[in-house]
Amino acid sequence: MDYRNLYDGIDEQVKLPSGAFITPINFDNGATTPPLKSVTKIIADNIQNYGPIARGVGFKGEYCTNMFDDCRKKILDFFGLSECDSHTVVYTKSDTESLNILANTLIKNKDDMILTTRMEHHANDLPFRNVGKVVYVDVDKLGRINIDDIEETLIKYKGKIKIITITGASNVTGYINPIHEVAALAHKYNALIIVDGAQLIAHKKVDMKGSCESESIDFFTFSAHKAYAPFGSGAIVGRKDYLNSNTPFLSGGGCVAGVFDDNIIWTGVPEKFEAGTQNFFGVIAMAKAMEDLQNIGFNNIENHESMLKNYLISNMKKIRNVILYGDTIYTDDRIGVIAFNVMEREYGDLAIKMATERGISLRAGKFCAHPYVYRLLNVSNCDAYRDVVSGEYCYGMVRASLGLYNTKEEADIFLNQLEYIANRKNPNRVYRKPKGRIRF
Ligand code: ALA
Repeated sequence: MDYRNLYDGIDEQVKLPSGAFITPINFDNGATTPPLKSVTKIIADNIQNYGPIARGVGFKGEYCTNMFDDCRKKILDFFGLSECDSHTVVYTKSDTESLNILANTLIKNKDDMILTTRMEHHANDLPFRNVGKVVYVDVDKLGRINIDDIEETLIKYKGKIKIITITGASNVTGYINPIHEVAALAHKYNALIIVDGAQLIAHKKVDMKGSCESESIDFFTFSAHKAYAPFGSGAIVGRKDYLNSNTPFLSGGGCVAGVFDDNIIWTGVPEKFEAGTQNFFGVIAMAKAMEDLQNIGFNNIENHESMLKNYLISNMKKIRNVILYGDTIYTDDRIGVIAFNVMEREYGDLAIKMATERGISLRAGKFCAHPYVYRLLNVSNCDAYRDVVSGEYCYGMVRASLGLYNTKEEADIFLNQLEYIANRKNPNRVYRKPKGRIRF
């Protein structure tokens, strides 16, 4: 199947500093993905139809409210759930907002304990530091989590851990965590599980139920802009019972049944967690992209992306001076996310050269996963701290992250350019700060 043809905005040429026009290569899908054509269309088709959701009375309001509710069914279906199941879909602005909502809703007491890992994106670490006591399971030398360490930590804290929150797939190494095994452990020790699914949903089938009740995922979060729809929408797919029995973190219009001088009666879920006017376009775009991914089929998606990932890793290994992070021998538990460096070349400079010389978009830095990247680079906490305080920012990597529309031809262009840069004399061997707008 020609996956490329399903996407918008990937073939427009860009002008390089040399003056040449070139079709760019986007290997930065871990940050943000381009839209599916069906997503562009659903937005264009509805731009003249939008009205208030679950508020006004009138044709446009009713049309949008119905469509909005229908999207919840589609999203539940994507995760192997249905409306009568135990879970609902709460629309949010992003994965980060989803995790902040969960941290501030499910944790009641500063002494409550949360177990997470050193593999996490900051969005699945920092919100929990604010609300309770976080304990971390560390990664091994290759950057993987060991499930036995999770159980040992649960035993060590004798039932005090209320929540395990873990990434579904790493945004640095692409490791896929065994979320259903972790769910079974969480439930065995009376904890809930949250899965940060931002990097997972566009690449691998997620069945929230697992193969038995104990393997069921309690809460799953994600963003649309990493799954072929635009910014500004995300969701929590979560347990109705826990959401119903908690007060919402964000409040305002639309989440109440009654407001009195000195009292509030909240409405039911999901509306209780969706205060304020909703992002109609964000939601219909997100649901459409998810419906299309389901129709394309995750077997096809995994096969294509896995072929590209293995092709890139095996060929990057052969390039002199290239350093790869994570396991490059057994790669079946990795999605197409590849972090690397070139010896004696500064990471920001490397990414800028790939972009300016051949139009290849990558991400450089520590990918909002600083503790994990320092571990992979074998940098001590003390050295890492000194590096940031001094403003030197010596430590970082470059990341290639794949999407369904990427091709083997693009992989070849990337490999050629990387080899060219890795083997050419580097005039900048002394560290210098990266130029350009790189976000660490
Ligand atoms: N979390 C996104 C990334 O890894 C922004 O690039």
